[in-house]
Amino acid sequence: MLEIKIGNLFLKNPFMPASGTFGSGLEYEDFGDLSELGAVVTKGVSLKPKVGNKPPRIYELPSGMLNSIGLENVGIDKFTDILNQLKAYKTNIVVNFFGNSFEEYIEVSKILDEHNVVSCLEMNISCPNIKEGGICFGTDPHVIYSLVRNVKKVTKKDLWVKLTPNTGNIVSIAKAAENAGASAIVIANTYTGMKVDIETQKPALGNIFGGYSGPAIKPITLYHVFCCVREVNIPIIASGGIFNIEDVLEYLIVGAKAVQVGTANFTNPCILWDLIKDLKDYLIKKNLNIYDLIGSIKL
Ligand SMILES: Cc1cc2nc3c(=O)[nH]c(=O)nc-3n(C[C@H](O)[C@H](O)[C@H](O)COP(=O)(O)O)c2cc1C
Repeated sequence: MLEIKIGNLFLKNPFMPASGTFGSGLEYEDFGDLSELGAVVTKGVSLKPKVGNKPPRIYELPSGMLNSIGLENVGIDKFTDILNQLKAYKTNIVVNFFGNSFEEYIEVSKILDEHNVVSCLEMNISCPNIKEGGICFGTDPHVIYSLVRNVKKVTKKDLWVKLTPNTGNIVSIAKAAENAGASAIVIANTYTGMKVDIETQKPALGNIFGGYSGPAIKPITLYHVFCCVREVNIPIIASGGIFNIEDVLEYLIVGAKAVQVGTANFTNPCILWDLIKDLKDYLIKKNLNIYDLIGSIKL
């Protein structure tokens, strides 16, 4: 009843965690059976270990949170041990990865391609291109086309491209990723923002600015999903501010085929399992199949 297909992947249901908010997945073993999720999406990994940004790295706001973790991770070599532990679960393992240059993206993709446990690669393009003066990869359609094409050359696995919303042309970026061979688009990462402590007159985050996530971003990301669904033919996976079943239904109705839950995992670590049940109950009550719902918006 909840099964969906995204590219070459079959998912038991459209629910998965958003990268960076669910650890490797193993940290959530005590809260529910990972095998029941549509997929597990792991925290972003890079070629070399990364220490991340200076603290404070998190600031809670009434309608969301700012984070400037800075993509801290153990690097691809150590990450392999984690992958081996994830083998125990009967679900899709989606590995989120990033680089600071084309070469780094390609090198990590090559390594991940060799691991059977990896079902699919999710490419985070909200990163600075160090060689090009630190401009974010994800803001230029030409750069994205070339990056996706080059990564596709070194992997047989499905490639999902996770877009940044911090651009004026998200539809062009989505189209560029599709034309270059992406299997799906994930919309979207966090919105750049900041907070100032009025007593000290200093930025609340050590890195000055960070990524804003949570309920406040949902209407904006929903709009981006709505716009992109009309322009691309590959599946769209929504990520932004999902806290309850109504949020999930809105994303499916505008045309997302699956959803990723991020910040909400911090307030309710069981939310993914709760939402699976809620969607099942909703479909039974309305006598609908999930595909009746996807893209059913009436304008
Ligand atoms: C603490 C934290 C860490 C994150 N780390 C990553 C990451 O490593 N890679 C990535 O692509 N997105 C990362 N994100 C973005 C989330 O995956 C998600 O796309 C975003 O937070 C929007 O969804 P939400 O409002 O449900 O949290 C991170 C978000 C948070 C809050």
